[in-house]
Amino acid sequence: MPLKEDLNWRYATKKYDATKSVATEDIEKIIEAARLAPSSYGLQPYRVISISNQEIKNKIVPIAGNQQIVADCSHLLVFVAWDGYDKQRVDKIFNDTTDQRGLAKGTVFGSQTEAIVESQINLSEIEARIDTAKQACISLGFAIAQAAELKIDSTPMGGVNNAELDHLLGLDSKGLKSVYLLTLGYRQREGDWLVNLKKVRTPKDEFVIEIK
Ligand SMILES: Cc1cc2nc3c(=O)[nH]c(=O)nc-3n(C[C@H](O)[C@H](O)[C@H](O)COP(=O)(O)O)c2cc1C
Repeated sequence: MPLKEDLNWRYATKKYDATKSVATEDIEKIIEAARLAPSSYGLQPYRVISISNQEIKNKIVPIAGNQQIVADCSHLLVFVAWDGYDKQRVDKIFNDTTDQRGLAKGTVFGSQTEAIVESQINLSEIEARIDTAKQACISLGFAIAQAAELKIDSTPMGGVNNAELDHLLGLDSKGLKSVYLLTLGYRQREGDWLVNLKKVRTPKDEFVIEIK
């Protein structure tokens, strides 16, 4: 099925069938799509936490505005981002990249490498947080599209108290901050107020701003 049809099929599911689980291999495919997303300088300053534990999902419900989909979904992916850049983090990625490519250390972007490292580690805390969160969102988008291709329902979620979620998941000690959630599972049509409603988007000619 063309990607366009998958993207029209998907919607932000409002009610999941709590009795249905997504197969592990499908969860792996969705996470792999997230992992394969492009990132600035290939740094991938984000991670994905995959939660299928019912007790933890239940604990997240009140942190996520009492949205029941968190408890009823099969898996909850939490997209988390680095809380900032530091030389150790950047060097590790760049050194892994040169090692895997059989290149000399410090040459991943040729003569620009040192300047790139400096530009990243010199970002202010707020600049870095915005940068890493934006990149996590690209990864989230890939996961949503892959889920749709597999006919797995999903809901991206921003309605969450990030500080409380970070505390619950012990993210602070890992240098990570939660960004968005993605529930995965199978829709339960009864009780889902959105399932039969038209998908509404900004018209194409309004959406695209062409510069010819
Ligand atoms: C960043 C982001 C945050 C969102 N937060 C929530 C949320 O907390 N709860 C929810 O039910 N839907 C949430 N949504 C879903 C949107 O409301 C939905 O994607 C949008 O209305 C378009 O509808 P569609 O996805 O069904 O096509 C969120 C979507 C995005 C991209």
